[in-house]
Amino acid sequence: LARYAVAGNPVAHSRSPAIHAEFARQCGMAQAMSYERLLCPLDGFASTVQAFAAASGRGCNITVPFKFEAHALAARLTQRAQLAGAVNTLRFDAASEGGWLGDNTDGAGLVRDIEINAQRPLAGQRLLLLGAGGASAGVLGSLIARRPAEICIANRSVDKAQALVDQHANWSFEHGVRLSAHALRDCGQGFDVLINATSASLAGAGVPVSPEVLRPGALALDMMYGPAAAPFLDWARAQGAEPRDGLGMLVEQAAEAFELWRGARPDSAAVLRQLRQELA
Ligand code: ATR
Repeated sequence: LARYAVAGNPVAHSRSPAIHAEFARQCGMAQAMSYERLLCPLDGFASTVQAFAAASGRGCNITVPFKFEAHALAARLTQRAQLAGAVNTLRFDAASEGGWLGDNTDGAGLVRDIEINAQRPLAGQRLLLLGAGGASAGVLGSLIARRPAEICIANRSVDKAQALVDQHANWSFEHGVRLSAHALRDCGQGFDVLINATSASLAGAGVPVSPEVLRPGALALDMMYGPAAAPFLDWARAQGAEPRDGLGMLVEQAAEAFELWRGARPDSAAVLRQLRQELA
């Protein structure tokens, strides 16, 4: 049996085991693999994951707060994981095959949710990305690769947004994307796509930008889902934007990880529909 897991702290509420179990069933691999929760002590991520790998573990997803440690632990990194500076998927390849591979599927998951599920091709569009923490860093490279006209990064502390811009300067230049850093109060208006990657709602702080940032009919996506996303989605709807939560991104990043591990592409859209029904 090939074992996989989501490693984090906490992991009790993770939806990943249910999502991967359904992917495995779809692909006829339910007997060949398992997917579990791996709670790691805050000071024991590496040792917990190493023990799991030694006990038939073949790979894991990584969630808060270990994505940076996972990046350090990988023997090699995909280009998107290098750009993100963080790893959400490890594949435990043998040393003879090059050692553990670190990938980051968050950005590809977000892009797929926006372009395929929400049917909003990003090429030529104006994007506003709120937040400059780990969640933004994880997806920025993949957003740039879709060649939008521009991406404005707005953050409470502008220097963190500027640091992200600097880290992606070459990548954005290569793709012809204008990349800039702004304060939340001063980030322009009329964007086609707004992505909330702040944790402001968890802090009970409401939506940190003014409504003019949205053009009529814009897509307004919060990376969170469930009650945490509700204030942002209500606000977006009230502005005439199309609200979207982070459930699609969650399922799509999982599908990317599944494909990296198992070499098969699951029907992510079906799983997303199913999850939405369960949560409704
Ligand atoms: P994550 O991994 O979820 O991105 P993080 O790295 O702690 O977590 O980043 C949290 C993001 O939410 C940051 O962009 C943070 O802004 P600062 O960089 O200025 O701290 C943003 N954030 C958190 N609380 C916020 C609030 N009340 N209003 C606006 N932005 C907030």
